[in-house]
Amino acid sequence: MRAQGRTFTKFSTASILILSCLFFILYYHPLREATPESYPTYDPSRKGFQLASPRIPEKIWYKVGPKGLSDQSEEWLHDCLHKNPAHSAQIMTDLTGDQYVQENFGDRPDIVDAYLSLSVPILKADFLRYLLLFVEGGIWADLDVSCGDVPIREWIPETMRAKARLVVGWEFDVGWGENFIRQFESWTIMAAPGSPHLFMVINDIMEGIRQKTEEYQVPVSGLTLDMTGNVIDFTGPRRLTRGILKSLELARNETIDMASISNLLEPVLLDDVLILPGYSFAASSNSYSNVNVTGPSLVQHHYAGSWKNHNGGEI
Ligand SMILES: *[C@@H]1O[C@H](CO)[C@@H](O)[C@H](O)[C@H]1NC(C)=O
Ligand SMILES: *[C@@H]1O[C@H](CO)[C@@H](O)[C@H](O)[C@H]1NC(C)=O
Repeated sequence: MRAQGRTFTKFSTASILILSCLFFILYYHPLREATPESYPTYDPSRKGFQLASPRIPEKIWYKVGPKGLSDQSEEWLHDCLHKNPAHSAQIMTDLTGDQYVQENFGDRPDIVDAYLSLSVPILKADFLRYLLLFVEGGIWADLDVSCGDVPIREWIPETMRAKARLVVGWEFDVGWGENFIRQFESWTIMAAPGSPHLFMVINDIMEGIRQKTEEYQVPVSGLTLDMTGNVIDFTGPRRLTRGILKSLELARNETIDMASISNLLEPVLLDDVLILPGYSFAASSNSYSNVNVTGPSLVQHHYAGSWKNHNGGEI
């Protein structure tokens, strides 16, 4: 699958462009921060220098269910690519998702086994996005997401481009009072390959699977939504949020003061994690008293919720 991913890239660009890109990367990226292996799959041969981030591949990942791409989703997808001509899209299916995980997680047979065994589609769809972004990076997009007018290359504020390796946005942040659980949305996630924070999320999911199979004395294939509890916690946005914050706390050796990342009116960079305000990826789920302080809505989520039936699959 990785080879197939590369077929989207072009190798014909002049080498001077590649050298310029390398200069760009090195200029914004002091060697003490990371070795070149930190961005293994980034291909600098794509045209242009104003990348959203020097390390985040310009590739959008989609995943279709057994019914394929709806006309509406196809329209949104094409609109997104039209607005972002440097980006390519790769549409995964159930089959290619399985193959991808088998081929790329050979050193983690536990992950391959668990992924292939899971029988609830939404759990696999959640899991797949973290696995893909961890190996390859890029942008995950659910099929019910449409792009706004700001090009993806401008999603990350210029001063943060050199550092950001994982980009998430609040789903619920402003307008909910104080007595609720904040979560990052998971319909749009941007990542450079190899994010330790996504690795934390992946390992936390594995631990969650282990606990539930033990509790109910079933194989992974026997796990149902009744056993896993709320999908949002098991593999969804809250799992993502907890994993990222936990990973950041470990990396920083300090507790994250939630006040410092709450009620955001502008993006915040915590180490290499860029947290976007609610209005960026989830404008309809946040309400601001002064509309003038908000920035542009980068994507719109249309809440198709195709997984919200009893079996957690497409209706
Ligand atoms: C982490 O923080 C604690 C308390 O602030 C300190 O005692 C400890 O040495 C730190 N550990 C590392 C690895 O920096
Ligand atoms: C908010 O924007 C509106 C329309 O552009 C403008 O009339 C108003 O003065 C602005 N308010 C503030 C507080 O900036």
